Amino acid sequence: MIVLGIETSCDETAAALYHSEQGLLAHQLHSQIPLHAAYGGVVPELASRDHIRKTLPLIRATLAAADCLPQQVDAVAYTAGPGLVGALLVGAAIGRSLAWSWGKPAIGVHHLEGHLLAPMLEENPPPLPFVALLVSGGHTQLVDVRAIGDYQLLGESVDDAAGEAFDKTAKLLGLPYPGGPQLSRLAQQGHPGRYRFPRPMTDRPGLDLSFSGLKTFALNTLRQAESEHGTPLPQQLRADIALAFEQAVVETLIIKCRRALHATGHRHLVLAGGVSANQRLRQGMAEVLAKEGVTTHYPRPEFCTDNAAMIAYAGWQRLRLGESEPLSFKAKPRWAI
Ligand code: KG4
Ligand code: ZN
Repeated sequence: MIVLGIETSCDETAAALYHSEQGLLAHQLHSQIPLHAAYGGVVPELASRDHIRKTLPLIRATLAAADCLPQQVDAVAYTAGPGLVGALLVGAAIGRSLAWSWGKPAIGVHHLEGHLLAPMLEENPPPLPFVALLVSGGHTQLVDVRAIGDYQLLGESVDDAAGEAFDKTAKLLGLPYPGGPQLSRLAQQGHPGRYRFPRPMTDRPGLDLSFSGLKTFALNTLRQAESEHGTPLPQQLRADIALAFEQAVVETLIIKCRRALHATGHRHLVLAGGVSANQRLRQGMAEVLAKEGVTTHYPRPEFCTDNAAMIAYAGWQRLRLGESEPLSFKAKPRWAI
């Protein structure tokens, strides 16, 4: 069975073809980062218009790359939410219409289910059950994945998502959008120990998280440093702040993941979502958990951030379980997993 996956929930347009026996056949992605960079964040209307321009050409390019004809596609999976409603509507309308014209089924996929199943596309996929840490620009959640489709939310951020905190702190440090990877690069030059940020909500029991305080802490640290050392702050001190912020996010996430693993008794952890591309998080988590006999799994960096391979895969899993949908299409900007 060949499933065409379409992702248009935010600022990436992507298409992919997943074959149930051969695995991923092809995937293509167009990033809107240069389009939004001038505004310091995603402009929803510009995102929708760009998805309209790019989705069909990307689908054609993906079919060509896989040497696949439209009539060989058995089903279409599109991201139905959560995300920007205008952006979602583009992928949903195109995906549903193509499936109808080809006489094939279409299925609306939950974007976060796509993220948490992304490591299944790798060579050593995690065995079920596992704990998944979903860390993206819009969500930070700990999920007990018992089986495909059987997800229990264990905890989540009560305010900003981890990626959002990365992006906002990066902006404070004068780094361009999207700030997460840029902040991480700056942190590589940082000297450890000059600054120390709090580890929010780790001093009390529970699996919820909070990241908005770290952004405020970064602002206060920056102001204090500027009053001592002048504006603009020397590059080395900016790097020191970036490092202290990154260490705080990573250590907080590690503490909460260990708790979730103890609570569930699972021996495997999956890192997913844009922030799981972060090297310090990947290495730190794997090192700490290995000592406890827990294996850490994560997708290749390009499948940590938004992509259509994970949507095609999640769609195939849903269809395999016998799910089907009516001819109407759905776009759900808010949608609990
Ligand atoms: O999953 P994703 O591509 O989109 C959403 O569904 O939100 O995640 C994007 C988020 C952004 O906040 C971005 O700054 C962050 O992931 N991100 C990173 C890194 N790469 C992407 N944050 C920290 N370190 C990275 N290397
Ligand atoms: Zn995402």
